[in-house]
Amino acid sequence: MTEPFRMAYEDSADRVPLLLIHGFPLNNTLWDLQVGDLCDIARIITPDLRGHGLSEPAEPPYAIGDLADDCIRLLDDLGIDGPVVIGGLSMGGYVAFEICRKYPERVMGLILAATKAGADSDEAKKARDAAMETAKSEGVEPIADGMLPKLLVPGAQENAPEMAAFVKRMMMETSVEGVIGALGAMRDRPDSTPDLPTLAVPTLVIHGADDQLIPRAEAEAMAEALPEATLAIAGDAGHLPCLEQPEFFNDTVREFLEGFYE
Ligand code: MLT
Repeated sequence: MTEPFRMAYEDSADRVPLLLIHGFPLNNTLWDLQVGDLCDIARIITPDLRGHGLSEPAEPPYAIGDLADDCIRLLDDLGIDGPVVIGGLSMGGYVAFEICRKYPERVMGLILAATKAGADSDEAKKARDAAMETAKSEGVEPIADGMLPKLLVPGAQENAPEMAAFVKRMMMETSVEGVIGALGAMRDRPDSTPDLPTLAVPTLVIHGADDQLIPRAEAEAMAEALPEATLAIAGDAGHLPCLEQPEFFNDTVREFLEGFYE
């Protein structure tokens, strides 16, 4: 028998749980640079949404509520039944808003990256329908080729070919079912603008200065309407600031997460 003693230990389960939800049509490798850098301050969970990455290609149609339910089911399965920080990039942000509506008790904070609160315009809905037809008849590649130049800061395909190739690969790993399902879910998602003033949790709004898909004015308006938001604009970044400016992104997220330990 040894004498009783006080044993020091660390358990990552003690850290703030952070669920990071990727955008369309990407997967959880989008967050590789966050998982590596921020694992000392957060317990990071990065799902592949249904039909994306290594998750099974569930049959469409998908609703944004299905994607929210999937994320909460994952947390349940992991035994994380308390509130977490929900981070979502673009479509992941749409899912985060839905989690706030359906499961407010599971949200202790929000990171809204390269996303917006508004629903699709009629024109955007028509573009989703056309893209769904394209994916059905020609597969994922034309969708990926059409999106790639808009995802990164202008000129990135020439100046950062490895990053562009990585993003293209991520998109090509998405199943046709995933592409069609996610397009329909985004088309039919509700307007989250009226919810913004009610989202009374610490929120980080983070956006690329040169986002070609969602203009930074959307992030500014969102931050203005949210009761507890901090706005961070990443210079020289497009729609994927976590990948394009990982140091800025991670430092900003770290500072935000430190607030949960005070
Ligand atoms: C995304 O990046 O997740 C999507 O492009 C968002 C959208 O199409 O609304």
